[in-house]
Amino acid sequence: MKGLVLSGGKGTRLRPITYTSAKQLVPVANKPVLFYGIEAIVAAGITEIGIVVGDTHAEIEAAVGDGSALGAKVTYIRQDAPRGLAHAVMVARDFLAEDSFVMYLGDNLIAGGIASLVEEFQADDSNAMILLAEVDNPQQFGVAELDGDGVVKRLIEKPPVPPSNLALVGVYMFDANIHQAVNRIQPSARGELEITDAIQDLIDHGLVVHPHRVRGWWKDTGKLEDMLEANHIVLEQLRVKRRGKVGENSRIEGRVELGEGVELVDTLIRGPVVIGAGTRLEHAFVGPYTSIGENCRLSHCEIENSIVLANSTIREVPGRIDGSLLGRNVKIERSAEKPKAYRFMLGDNSEVGIS
Ligand code: G1P
Repeated sequence: MKGLVLSGGKGTRLRPITYTSAKQLVPVANKPVLFYGIEAIVAAGITEIGIVVGDTHAEIEAAVGDGSALGAKVTYIRQDAPRGLAHAVMVARDFLAEDSFVMYLGDNLIAGGIASLVEEFQADDSNAMILLAEVDNPQQFGVAELDGDGVVKRLIEKPPVPPSNLALVGVYMFDANIHQAVNRIQPSARGELEITDAIQDLIDHGLVVHPHRVRGWWKDTGKLEDMLEANHIVLEQLRVKRRGKVGENSRIEGRVELGEGVELVDTLIRGPVVIGAGTRLEHAFVGPYTSIGENCRLSHCEIENSIVLANSTIREVPGRIDGSLLGRNVKIERSAEKPKAYRFMLGDNSEVGIS
């Protein structure tokens, strides 16, 4: 089997972060979301992986390289525009050849990996396997309708009136029959070739689509709240490595990972928390479920349940920062300038909440 990881797309729901960075590279517990997917595929014994990339190809290629650091052999496949998941399968035709493959959306995270699912698919006679999870907002996903025997009757992409609460998870397994299906379907109302429609086409042609109900957690990290929740879940499983220094008057409670060269001065960290290499915290409080990237500077501030990317500075902020995602090189500082006022320089689609 091969792996096909989709890492194109514009990430509009994570702007402004995604103006300068691919959504699949936004870190969860200081590791790009995309790496979790690649590692899950490798852990299932699949090392030949194609990554479909779009406008952000240079950045993805710089991060993943030839894949060897993650135990994979990676081939990059260019998609000229985000024309849909089924279109991504089309452009990967030569790479996939006649092999069965697992397709993994690069912004999805799934509990317990996919090794047992790959095994289940290989042991089965089905032509495709889909994963289904119960969600509260099925309108925002592909939705499956099953009959009384649990057989897939119908699949619909983002239906305004969903026939069930079973969403299609962004991990799929296919045999070579999918190539005919992606060629038979038409673009959807949003102008994309939907994988959901291609799987429906398999069903319409009498092929076997096996549904697997996912019981553990699953996250599509397309939005801020999902990103924070994924960060929460991954930090919950944190195993502690401590390379930095817990300096004078500083204290660590719970599970906290400190990268190389981290300095703590008069600081309290209450885990689970990860702090990237070279970051310095002074007179700060870092609360549970926070990931702080490399080379950040935090002083006289409090933060929890947040993600801070590399090289950012937070200094002398009077209130506690909570539920926030800060990009790279962000600065939040108190200034002595008159008049006493809030001063912002925010990119398009930035969001600031003031209480
Ligand atoms: C895509 C699929 C959808 C699936 C979802 C899972 O949606 O089209 O069927 O439920 O991924 O993450 P998109 O992220 O393109 O909106």
